[in-house]
Amino acid sequence: MSGQDAGAPAYRVWALPGIGEVRAGDDLAKLIAAAEPGLVDGDVLLVTSKIVSKAEGRIMEAADREAAIDAETVRVVARRGTLRIVENRQGLVMAAAGVDASNTPAGTVLLLPQDPDASARAIRDGLRDTLGVEVGVVVTDTFGRPWRSGLTDVAIGAAGVRVLDDLRGGTDAYGNPLSATVVATADELAAAGDLVKGKASGLPVAVVRGLAHVVVPAGDGEPDGARAMVRGAADDMFRLGTSEAVREALNLRRTVREFTDDPVDPGAVRRAVAAAVTAPAPHHTTPWRFVLLESAESRTRLLDAMRDAWIADLRRDGRDEESIARRVRRGDVLREAPYLVVPCLVTEGSHHYGDERRDTAEREMFVVAAGAGVQNFLVALAGERLGSAWVSSTMFCRDVVREVLGLPAGWDPLGAVAVGRAAGEPKERAPRDPEDFLTVR
Ligand SMILES: Cc1cc2nc3c(=O)[nH]c(=O)nc-3n(C[C@H](O)[C@H](O)[C@H](O)COP(=O)(O)O)c2cc1C
Repeated sequence: MSGQDAGAPAYRVWALPGIGEVRAGDDLAKLIAAAEPGLVDGDVLLVTSKIVSKAEGRIMEAADREAAIDAETVRVVARRGTLRIVENRQGLVMAAAGVDASNTPAGTVLLLPQDPDASARAIRDGLRDTLGVEVGVVVTDTFGRPWRSGLTDVAIGAAGVRVLDDLRGGTDAYGNPLSATVVATADELAAAGDLVKGKASGLPVAVVRGLAHVVVPAGDGEPDGARAMVRGAADDMFRLGTSEAVREALNLRRTVREFTDDPVDPGAVRRAVAAAVTAPAPHHTTPWRFVLLESAESRTRLLDAMRDAWIADLRRDGRDEESIARRVRRGDVLREAPYLVVPCLVTEGSHHYGDERRDTAEREMFVVAAGAGVQNFLVALAGERLGSAWVSSTMFCRDVVREVLGLPAGWDPLGAVAVGRAAGEPKERAPRDPEDFLTVR
């Protein structure tokens, strides 16, 4: 009644008793070999990173754990209260950069091994030297995960183990192609070891036996270490926490004056309009309208009419024809853009006071609310990885714009927004110190 088929795949996992307290300079391979002299080829060792750190002397005097975290942090992914999820020097995205104040004397913290793959290789090579066995080694650490409650061990270092099992190109039991299936074998091994190591039981090493196919003897083409399991920021759809992403969207919005020829997704523009019309506005009004110029013909018609109106203005200013031609010839960000939007202000619902002071204030109130809508729009476009340039020209020839685009008399164009993929990186902009913009009373 074993419930287990003789031929069905199975493995055994057990923790090694007797490793004891590890100190700087200890040889982990020797300690493991002494604890389990019966290791055989194809075994996989799951070694808690904490003892690797201790053996490698990665203990640090730190009255202030926060300062140690700062030193180990390459990039902050998300922060909530005192909790920080960061990318650390090893490329791992994890809480507190992996700096641990537990299981170490008061006033000290434990840092992760400098190069956990190298640590794993040293243990594997040491076990070959000591016991003459070809084992796989996974250095493990405990991680929380987005979207899942609870912690689990994952591989942060590996040697002699196929860390990822790429099943792409194969088929499932129904013959469906597997197009995205890459199994995180080393993480699965780490989690299996955690089931028997426990957290506080003083059992920092476990062995998995029965999965020799995941072990690659040295010399047979060294498989990648656990570093290969880190998803780079460029491929990470969740590179930032929510608050951080909101702030980044604001910084991401920069005026883009040169675009690629890539067409603009009209759906992305509509999503940005949906974000735009959540801006604050007076008297519960909705003073925003967005005219989308999706055909080249509509864009050219508008730009030609605006150019003619501009030339007429310059002539009225008394400029000579040559200087007018020079000005008009200058590169026009709107003409080079693959997509144009004309945001408009409508003042429906505004109050009429009958005196200039209050009527002017009322109009300004609507104008600033309209501006907030346009800023929302530009930020949302940035979130869609679309660059934009908000330029003023339509404000200077509103009648012409209304006429060419067939807009109602009450729609006041608020410039035009060129939209497209940025052809290059924006120029660096010196950070602005909020103190320069503050008055505190
Ligand atoms: C109402 C308004 C009108 C603007 N008009 C023009 C314009 O006519 N031509 C232009 O190249 N940029 C125009 N800009 C863009 C600014 O030059 C730009 O925002 C500024 O240089 C800061 O750069 P950044 O947007 O990358 O932060 C305008 C911006 C605003 C808000």
